[in-house]
Amino acid sequence: MSMVPDVADSSRPGDAPRERGAGAWERLVPSGRNACVVGLQFGDEGKGQIVDAITDRFDYVTRFNGGNNAGHSVRIGDQKFALHLIPSGILNPSAINVIGNGVVVDPEGILAEIDGLVSRGVAVGENLKISTRAHVVLPWHKTQDRLMELALHKSRGEQDTIGTTGRGIGPCYADKAQRSTAVRMGDLLHPDLLLRQLQGAASVKNVMLAALAAHLDEPFEPFEPRQLHETLLGQARRLAPHLCDTSALLRQAMREGRRVLFEGANAALLDVDHGTFPFVTSSNTTALGIHAGAGVPGGSVSDVLGVVKCYTSRVGGGPSATQFDDETANHLRKVGNEFGTTTGRPRRIGWLDLMAVRYAAQLNGCTGLVCTGLAVLSGLKTIRAATEYRLAGKVLTEFPYSADDLWRVEPGYAEFPGFEESISDCRRYEDLPEAARRFVREIARFVEVPVRAVCVGPAREQMLPVPAAG
Ligand code: IMP
Repeated sequence: MSMVPDVADSSRPGDAPRERGAGAWERLVPSGRNACVVGLQFGDEGKGQIVDAITDRFDYVTRFNGGNNAGHSVRIGDQKFALHLIPSGILNPSAINVIGNGVVVDPEGILAEIDGLVSRGVAVGENLKISTRAHVVLPWHKTQDRLMELALHKSRGEQDTIGTTGRGIGPCYADKAQRSTAVRMGDLLHPDLLLRQLQGAASVKNVMLAALAAHLDEPFEPFEPRQLHETLLGQARRLAPHLCDTSALLRQAMREGRRVLFEGANAALLDVDHGTFPFVTSSNTTALGIHAGAGVPGGSVSDVLGVVKCYTSRVGGGPSATQFDDETANHLRKVGNEFGTTTGRPRRIGWLDLMAVRYAAQLNGCTGLVCTGLAVLSGLKTIRAATEYRLAGKVLTEFPYSADDLWRVEPGYAEFPGFEESISDCRRYEDLPEAARRFVREIARFVEVPVRAVCVGPAREQMLPVPAAG
């Protein structure tokens, strides 16, 4: 497909040569058709690296959920790009990047991201399409997010706060369901309609938030709809060229036989329906969300790649059954740089939770796994992975629905010999120490999904395809 980005030059610093692990495409997307990449834990599994490794075979890269609560890091040469709303395919000059209707878009956030990319020589023009049906994150959503967290903290204490990213994601999705207080991206192109919507919503938000702020002894400045209208119209002028019916675009593309890659944000255990509710984000983060969130028919995706970090990290509130806090955890946090891409918060660390990963892989219908973070485990004498949950003395056969139960489960661990040597310089799966390969085999065996690649670091050449008999 011919694609001429209309802003800036399409060459990128650090982009040549684009080294790929040999055979990555064949191993990761054996169908050669549409695929998706989703995280199978609590986010921060390293999905961006996987997407980046295969985007140049896709015509479209599509986000279908979440907002700028997500943070995808992609490393090209010595440059690191942190993307929040814009699909990772933006770093591939020939892909069209789609922000689907299921995403919530903060206009200020996305413009800052576009400016950041352009200033580093990345073309952002006709290669970025934003759904007119996507909902707009407005300033009051961020205020509401913060006040709701404070209220939760005050009434129920630290353990019960969700620990949101503060980006207004939950309140924006809540308004989508509420309808009368919502604004969609397409509305930014209709100044009169937009003003009426803002005036209506502000009249409700100002009353609600003033009362909540007073209850919490927090300052509150009412929102001025006309001022907000002016700001949004300025942002709309810049975003207008990107806005379109992305569902129609994708359906047409698929009819023409174009390949689409769907890029999941956040991760399975943060799914609003299937995650560790209420300690979740507000969208369907699994492959189950693709059809509604991108406006494409069921059966549109052939290869579902689940990304599994070889240990667990979690940021924000909520249970993580295998969490531990000692010198080893500090070591893994440091070596794995486990600090939030979006908020900088230190992440909680746990052993690999295979009970959770198997549940997530089944929900997503994973056809393949990619293991990340293996190199972080180098130097440990023993590696552990949870293969059983017990609650009140009983072995659980399914992942518990209740966060309360998850706080209380006692994981049963399998132990594996560690590997002393650093593996980040390995360039073929076969070069990994036997102990590392054994751990990878165990993941595939327990989850009942083949591991198709292992990442020994964040760089492109550090993704090692696993041979079919691996
Ligand atoms: P929210 O999405 O900002 O409402 O946050 C809800 C919960 O999801 C919090 O615990 C966040 O820390 C977590 N969360 C949301 N997005 C991500 C992500 O991309 N990575 C890790 N955690 C996330």
